[in-house]
Amino acid sequence: MGLSILKDASAETLAALTDELAVRKTTSVVLLFSMGSQFDHLIVQHLAKIGVYCLLADPAKIRVADVKKIAPKGIIVSGGPASVHNEPPPFDNKIFDLGIPTLGICLGFQMWAKHVGSKVTPAKTREFGVHVMRITKSDPLFKNIPKKTRVLQSHGDHITPSKKLTILGTTENALAAARYKHLWGVQYHPETTESEHGEKIFKNFCLSICGIADPFPASSVAKQKVAALRQQVAGKRILIALSGGSDSSVVAYLLKHATRGVPRTKLRGVYIRGIDRPDDEAFVKKYFASQKWLNVKIVDATDRFLDALAGKTGMREKRLAMRGIYTDVLEQEVRAFKADFIAQGTLYTDLRESGHGHQTGARIAEIKVHHNTGITWSVSELAPLSDCVKDSARDIGLELGIPEALLFRHPFPGPGLVVRIEDEVTKETLQTARAVDRIYIEELRRAKLYDSVWQAGATLTRSEHTETKGDDAGSGRVVALWAVWSVNGFTARFAQLPYDFLDTVSRRITNEVCEVGAVVYRISDKPPTTIEWG
Ligand code: XMP
Repeated sequence: MGLSILKDASAETLAALTDELAVRKTTSVVLLFSMGSQFDHLIVQHLAKIGVYCLLADPAKIRVADVKKIAPKGIIVSGGPASVHNEPPPFDNKIFDLGIPTLGICLGFQMWAKHVGSKVTPAKTREFGVHVMRITKSDPLFKNIPKKTRVLQSHGDHITPSKKLTILGTTENALAAARYKHLWGVQYHPETTESEHGEKIFKNFCLSICGIADPFPASSVAKQKVAALRQQVAGKRILIALSGGSDSSVVAYLLKHATRGVPRTKLRGVYIRGIDRPDDEAFVKKYFASQKWLNVKIVDATDRFLDALAGKTGMREKRLAMRGIYTDVLEQEVRAFKADFIAQGTLYTDLRESGHGHQTGARIAEIKVHHNTGITWSVSELAPLSDCVKDSARDIGLELGIPEALLFRHPFPGPGLVVRIEDEVTKETLQTARAVDRIYIEELRRAKLYDSVWQAGATLTRSEHTETKGDDAGSGRVVALWAVWSVNGFTARFAQLPYDFLDTVSRRITNEVCEVGAVVYRISDKPPTTIEWG
């Protein structure tokens, strides 16, 4: 579907671009230089929602002469893990002098600010999380946006205002938005859900500032994906890694629709037991086991997981060990089923956090190795959701008619309880983690809070707490409960659960699970804290 990442502006590439725009019934392109941001795909999604064709560009390869040839209506330079003062990102700064409306986000803002002579230095007070921005000057970028708005910041450097910059907005600690001629910059991330009015910012930029007047019409993503899969898998045997969570369920349903009425196509779903949460297997059985279009196989890999995890205490080494067994089990099932394809519910979020995703040449941080990424399979892989994040994947599921109880389950953490147990994963710690999870989720459902939080979990920490039970004394593990409000998992806010609810859960856990000495509740947002403990 269209060009992937623009690495040159040769005649062939430009002809392909013209064809792609004709298919979309638009002539307008916004060039997005992704500087390795975790959130760059959210910018792509925002633009797609408005109907603007967003072309991702490799900042190291697309130089000023190429941009002139492409003649985009606007340019966006995203954030990224680099720093302008000690790790200059690969980018041709002459692009900033072209006079094309440009929006710099975070690092992208710092890049053009430095280019026009402002100072960018490490901030004394870094900003991570939600802050209030005050808009100090009216500008088309902030048209119809309230003067005080909540924005998500995630930066260690800041820009010292210079005479050239027109300051448009500030937060408590930093310059939050500014303009210089055709260059606009925001220090915060309007693409994330925590920033209010993000959609309006992109609309103002693309439609008013860049003057895009022919946005393309919206189309059904589910239909497009089903059609693409149908071409790829007709008459083939496909093994689907099923977890009981929403993403792999959406993949299964996409394949159901793509293979409907196609002779000789066979689908098998494999569920791996061993490090799963208490109710995952039940969900797979309930929603898939009796379906005629899918053959479900449950593989018990408990011992293999435990063997591979024995003695391992670091989260990264445990994640890698888990991924090893996950791969081996599925490869075995690929052979047994004589599969032509293996399908996974990998999301863009998983790829990005693992250091993959849009490879524009900019450095991408590896936050954690997700279990479903970086695997070389013996057969071709289908990852039809790898350009989606959680909410866009769920939108596809809604279009396909997936039961909501399945679709809106809290996300399945790929490595299961492995990332919810600090220290070694053993039969005993798994049992404790499951007991604690069961109580927490049961109480969330009972209190009708389950659907109001995006994800909740209980982590068995390695800390011990002194306890006094009966007249005796001892010590038990500290369990950290957490729950977040989120939309897509890229960013999240801690959920403000009622104290009386937390009280009930804590009492039940310390009474019913004898290994636990204390219960605490985590109150950090993402960023800076990731959702899962490990
Ligand atoms: P983090 O902890 O990175 O999690 O903020 C974001 C979302 O992803 C889930 N998660 C995973 N999902 N494989 C997955 O498929 C993984 O390795 C993995 N690690 C975390 C996490 O539960 C949350 O919903």
